[in-house]
Amino acid sequence: MKRPRLLLTRALPELVLLEAERRFELRLWPEDAPIAAAFDRWARDCDAVLVMATDRLDRGRLRALAGKVRAVATCSVGHDHIDLAAATDYGLPVFHTPDVLSDAVAETAMLLILAAARDATAAEAVLRGGRWGPWSPTRFLGRQLPGRTLGIFGMGRIGLALARRARGFGMQLHYHNRSALPAGDAQGLHYHATLESLLAASDVLCVCAPSTPQTRGVLDARRLALLPRGALFVNIARGDLVDESALIEAIESGQVGGAGLDVYRNEPQIDSRFLQLPRTTLLPHIGSATIEARTAMGMLALEALTRWLVDGVPPENCLNPSTLRERSER
Ligand code: DGY
Repeated sequence: MKRPRLLLTRALPELVLLEAERRFELRLWPEDAPIAAAFDRWARDCDAVLVMATDRLDRGRLRALAGKVRAVATCSVGHDHIDLAAATDYGLPVFHTPDVLSDAVAETAMLLILAAARDATAAEAVLRGGRWGPWSPTRFLGRQLPGRTLGIFGMGRIGLALARRARGFGMQLHYHNRSALPAGDAQGLHYHATLESLLAASDVLCVCAPSTPQTRGVLDARRLALLPRGALFVNIARGDLVDESALIEAIESGQVGGAGLDVYRNEPQIDSRFLQLPRTTLLPHIGSATIEARTAMGMLALEALTRWLVDGVPPENCLNPSTLRERSER
């Protein structure tokens, strides 16, 4: 049987590439960079495309894909880079890769919480700069986590995975989400009906919410001022939830006592003021960057594409299932 043709926009871990070659006639986007104008031409005779969170599929690009490819997959849980309404209008199913990256991203969140609490980046810079000097009992003093309140903004799979870890560090767990968790999942987690109320309670705030029209820019100067003075701020979700100028000012003024950031509004060209900030750890969007997570994400995307293109079975990880129903009913 003829294998479907798949355009993959970046090389994934080796096991995924081998599996992709086994299941598909594989075409690899030629640059180690996000897609560009030539994408439409490269995708023209493909059955599906598998893109990354850095590949923007706007309405125009989806219009160009429609009627050619039969499915789009993204190797990410976030899908703010894809105009889902347009994909649905054009009857293109979009598959993403939830769950399998939650442990990796929650570990990154813990890493940033710990780094912010102990100002690890600044301490390491002192060592690397040859400025360690004699040991001092009052230098490099950080803060311990037990008893402190972790506010989790966005209680999806990653928020829950973070809560499990933070509980082991003795933190009090509070969260805000559109709706409260079902009783069984909510044990020991205190729900706040508003983001404002969560902010006021958080010694450490961790942003885990997706980027949507409702969440973009919500962490602005007014809301950052609601945090207890000196609170720590961590973001492993998306940079555009935050007014970055307001965050920078809050860190400079001490309103935010330390920060750990994995995501930014304008990646990879981040606001250069971040680089000068004290008490801040900056990572280059490595939330899901473990061999386990990236392999599992790639495999999940391939599996969804195979189920749909080869077996005609609707995969569960489809973001716009109405497109599957329409096709199944044809
Ligand atoms: C995701 O899956 O949305 C991540 O941000 C990509 O690493």
